[in-house]
Amino acid sequence: MTGKPEQADRAGPCHVAVIMDGNGRWAQMRGRPRLFGHHAGARRVREIVEACPANGVKYLTIFAFSTENWKRTQTEVAGLMKLFRRYIQSEARDLHASGVRVRFIGDRVKLEAKLVTLMDELELLTSGNDRVHLTVAINYGGRDEVTRAAKRLAYEVEQGRLSHKDVDAETLSRFLDTHVLPDPDLVIRTSGEARISNFLLWQSAYSEYEFVDTLWPDFSAEEFGKVIQSYTRRERRYGGVKA
Ligand code: IPE
Ligand code: IPE
Ligand code: MG
Repeated sequence: MTGKPEQADRAGPCHVAVIMDGNGRWAQMRGRPRLFGHHAGARRVREIVEACPANGVKYLTIFAFSTENWKRTQTEVAGLMKLFRRYIQSEARDLHASGVRVRFIGDRVKLEAKLVTLMDELELLTSGNDRVHLTVAINYGGRDEVTRAAKRLAYEVEQGRLSHKDVDAETLSRFLDTHVLPDPDLVIRTSGEARISNFLLWQSAYSEYEFVDTLWPDFSAEEFGKVIQSYTRRERRYGGVKA
C-alpha cells in the first residue's frame, strides 16, 4: 500500500520495522563465534513481539536475512538457515497462542525446501490471528522485491490483463511482497550503523528512522518502548507544511 494518512493521525507508530543488527559484534566481544550472537539475537525477538500491544504497535517487521547476506561464510549462512528452522519449530505454538499472525517476505526460491515448508505452515497456522502482525524478512532485499514486482507486472501487461497506462505507484505496490501491509511508520536499526542496507526501500519513503547504538541481542523491551515514545514527539509532514 502507498501513503497511509490514517497512521499520521496516530500518536504512536502502527507499523514498526527493525533492522536487527549487531549479533556478530555482540558475539565477538565475548570471544564467541558469530552464530552465538545470532542465537542470542533470536531470543530477543519474542520479547519485542510481546511488547508490541502495550506500545500500540500492530505491525512489526523484522529483517532476519538479506539478499546480500549470502556473501557470508557457508558456516554462518547454514547456521542461520538452521536457526530459522529451529526457531519456527520451537516458537510456532507460542506465537499462535499469543495471537500473532506471522508472514514472511523475501524471495523464497533460493531458500531450502524444508525451511519454506515451515514458513508456509506457520503462515497458515496463524492466518486467523490479528493481535500482532509479525512479518519476517528472509532473503529479502528492497531492490530485489521491486524487481520481482516489476517483472510480474510486465507479465500482466504482456498477457493483456493490464495496460501500461494503468501503471501507477498503487499498481506497482500491489505486486510487492508487502502488499497487504501498511507502510512502516518507524524503522529502527540497532548497532550504531546508520544505513538502510536494502530494507523496505519503497515502503519506507516517508518512514521515520531511529538509529540506536545498542547491539540487537541487548535491545530490550524497555528500550523499544523508549524509542516508540520518542517517535510520538516527531512531526511528520509528507512533503506538506505544518497544519
Ligand atoms: C545482524 O547481525 C543479523 C544478520 C545480518 C543475519 P550481524 O550478523 O550483521 O552482526 P554484525 O553487524 O556483524 O555485528
Ligand atoms: C542488515 O544487516 C541485514 C539484516 C539485519 C538481516 P547487515 O549487517 O547485513 O548490513 P551491512 O552489511 O552492515 O550493511
Ligand atoms: Mg551487521
